[in-house]
Amino acid sequence: MDKKPGDYIMFGSEAAVRALATRSLQREGAFVVPLLKPGMRVLDCGCGPGSITLDIARRVSPGEVVGIDFDANQIPFAQQLAVERGVGNVRYQVADAQALPFQDETFDLVFSHALVEHLPDPLRAAREMKRVLRPGGIVALRAPDHPADIRAPRIPTLDKADALYLELLRRNGANPEAGRIQPRWGGSDRRSTGGLGLASSW
Ligand SMILES: C[S@@+](CC[C@H](N)C(=O)[O-])C[C@H]1O[C@@H](n2cnc3c(N)ncnc32)[C@H](O)[C@@H]1O
Repeated sequence: MDKKPGDYIMFGSEAAVRALATRSLQREGAFVVPLLKPGMRVLDCGCGPGSITLDIARRVSPGEVVGIDFDANQIPFAQQLAVERGVGNVRYQVADAQALPFQDETFDLVFSHALVEHLPDPLRAAREMKRVLRPGGIVALRAPDHPADIRAPRIPTLDKADALYLELLRRNGANPEAGRIQPRWGGSDRRSTGGLGLASSW
């Protein structure tokens, strides 16, 4: 089935946006912290409400961070959060990670957290991330391996909700086990471009 990017399953959920806005680079993206240097130009694909994007921006200042998200509703939220947190070296725009509106070799690092598992064509997104990367740049992705999630103690209602979430992702043509398989998306490109993929279970 050909899926549109707007088919993201939490599309339009204000509760989801608020929950995602509590995320931080230190907690969700610590693996990328040692790679960030002042002056770098960074792209955050599928930035959502942008709280992680802002943490990246602080670390690369005076470099610039661009956050893109397909959901136009998230952009004003992200812009407002940037104002509230006093971060000026960040801008946001609506874009599809599978067709990035940037020239080749624009960014030093392309970051993405919790996006690729929602994409119908993650390989296309991976190729786009590589295209906009400067030679020697790094693509740094974190994606869940949901089937490996463990909940303790077990709560039957929540187990059922988890199972429904996985089924919904699969029906939407997405990849709940993206973290497990994402190293393969780089293919031979992975050797020529710094590629960092972190799989996580919750
Ligand atoms: C689970 S949220 C993660 C947001 C943020 N990266 C974070 O971790 O807090 C996934 C985000 O990807 C966005 N998204 C889904 N499909 C997309 C696409 N094709 N291109 C760009 N963004 C997309 C959604 O709108 C959503 O904001």
